[in-house]
Amino acid sequence: MSSFLNTLKIIGYVILGFGAYQVILRLIRRNWHFPAPSFITIFLNSRLRAKLQDPVRVIERSGIKPGDHVLEIGCGGGFFLPYAARAVGAEGQVYGLDIAEDMIEKSINHLAKTPAHIRERVELMQRSAYELPFDDASLDVVYLVAALMEIPDPRRCLLEARRVLKPEGVLAVSEFLPDPDYPSRRVTIRTVEEAGFAVEAEEGNAWAYTIRFRKG
Ligand SMILES: C[S@@+](CC[C@H](N)C(=O)[O-])C[C@H]1O[C@@H](n2cnc3c(N)ncnc32)[C@H](O)[C@@H]1O
Repeated sequence: MSSFLNTLKIIGYVILGFGAYQVILRLIRRNWHFPAPSFITIFLNSRLRAKLQDPVRVIERSGIKPGDHVLEIGCGGGFFLPYAARAVGAEGQVYGLDIAEDMIEKSINHLAKTPAHIRERVELMQRSAYELPFDDASLDVVYLVAALMEIPDPRRCLLEARRVLKPEGVLAVSEFLPDPDYPSRRVTIRTVEEAGFAVEAEEGNAWAYTIRFRKG
C-alpha cells in the first residue's frame, strides 16, 4: 500500500513539475520572443524525444513519398532529416533549412552519424523561412515540426511555402505539447488556412499531432 502511495506521489510530482515548467516557459515566450537556443538539441535530438514524438510516425504522417523533393523549415538539430531522407529513397532529395548557424552545425553533426547514402540525400541551408531558395512550384512536400509558431511571422513563412510547393504539394505541420510555442490544432488550422491552404488530414492527439494541408 505504501509503495503504491509513493508511486502516486512521484507521478504527482512529475505532473506538477511538468506543469510548472510549461507555465514558466510559456510566460517567458509570450513576453520575449527568441529562436530556440542550440543547447536545446540535447533534448530535441534525444532518445527520450523519439519516445515522446515518434519521428517515423511524424514523417509518415507528413505524406512524404519515394522520389519526393522535400523541405523541412526550421530543421533545428536535424532530428527528422534522416527519417525524411529514408522516406524519399534514392531518387528523392531532402533540404533542411534553418535561420540559425549553430543549429545548422548541430544538423551537420547529427547527419554525420547516419550512413553516407542517407546523409547524401540531405542538403542543409542556413536561410530565413521568409526567402526560401527554391523556384515556384518546385517541391512536393514542405514540413515543419515544432517550428511554425517560433517563426515571428508565420504567415510570411507559409506564403513562401505555398509559393515553392507544386500545385498538388503537401504542407505538413507537426506540433508537440512540451514545445513552449505549441499551438492548439485550432490555432494551427486557422493560421495555415489564412495563408491559402486547406486541411487534407489531421492525425495524432493533443500531445503530438500532424496536420496535412493542400494548396486551397
Ligand atoms: C524548436 S526548433 C525545432 C527544430 C526541429 N524542427 C525539431 O523539431 O527538432 C525551431 C527551429 O526554428 C528555427 N527558426 C526560427 N525562426 C526561423 C526563421 N525565421 N527561419 C528559419 N528557421 C527559423 C530555429 O532556429 C529553430 O532551430
